[in-house]
Amino acid sequence: MKKRIVSGITPSGNSLHIGNYFGAVKPQIELQNNEEFETFYFVADLHALTTVQNPTMLSDNVHNVVLDYLALGLKYEKSVFFRQSQSVGHSQLATVLANYIGLGQMKRMHAYKDKLQKGTDVDTVNMGLFNYPILMAADILLYKPYGVPVGEDQRQHVELTRDIAENFNKTYGQEIFPLPEPLISKEVGKIVGTDGERKMSKSLENTIGIFEDESIIKKQIMSCFTDPNRLKATDPGKVEGNPVFIYHDLLNENKAEVEELKNRYRLGQVGDVEVKEKLFLAHQAYFATARASRKALAEMPEKIVEILRAGASRSSDVGNQTMTEVYSLIGL
Ligand code: TRP
Repeated sequence: MKKRIVSGITPSGNSLHIGNYFGAVKPQIELQNNEEFETFYFVADLHALTTVQNPTMLSDNVHNVVLDYLALGLKYEKSVFFRQSQSVGHSQLATVLANYIGLGQMKRMHAYKDKLQKGTDVDTVNMGLFNYPILMAADILLYKPYGVPVGEDQRQHVELTRDIAENFNKTYGQEIFPLPEPLISKEVGKIVGTDGERKMSKSLENTIGIFEDESIIKKQIMSCFTDPNRLKATDPGKVEGNPVFIYHDLLNENKAEVEELKNRYRLGQVGDVEVKEKLFLAHQAYFATARASRKALAEMPEKIVEILRAGASRSSDVGNQTMTEVYSLIGL
């Protein structure tokens, strides 16, 4: 029996950036190519409603994220790839699972706490945002997976999922939901943004894109923060924790060049501009195949519809089976 893996991505923006790629998409795709695993990946379109309430924008975001994933190497022949809203069990199970978790624990969830910290009045917090972790628990438990590959920021959600599963199992005296493992790769669970401080995130405008026009990517790279204490190219610079070198390590397949740049940087023998220009070239080389493949996929709308239809059908088969089991167990 293959070990099942489940993960999702919320289409809150209309394109993936390198933080999404190295933090989530790349590890997910590696699991897909490992024979030991069976992978289920979905676009969490219902989750996006907490922030995207314009229908054109929502469907546009979903479409773009689907294209991005396929272009980056997700294979529908290997993974079950689908939209969350097209496998009805997610919503059904979320309604059930809400009964096995208390308000206190929900109030400790980061997404909700962050909102309050940013000054949102508690009475206006969107209930979809507050309930988000329950829907996410349903997304996961519906498929009874072995593991959930996510970024570091999602660890708390997977832990809550384990708690809900445990409460549920205990209530009915059956191990119906195996406790899922968070699969967070240590090095890349969290990619720093171009501000050099916070996690790379669309809303912070500190991203480097993947599929945008070259001029945009170049601008994002050239405006990246480096070593704040280095004023001139002849000052010795710090490589560790420096975003441009973090990105070089991820993107630049010419390891000798990276080492050589790092050495010169430490000695104060290279300017930021050269380091960044080489980073831009490395980015172009690294994503050349994905960029070409995305262009080709964009010309095949019927094929995309077909892929998602097949994914909806395969995920629903598994999800419906779980729901039949759950309803019967709880007396429905
Ligand atoms: N909350 C996740 C994110 O923002 C996306 C997500 C939704 C997810 N449901 C999931 C991830 C289930 C893993 C499993 O990135």
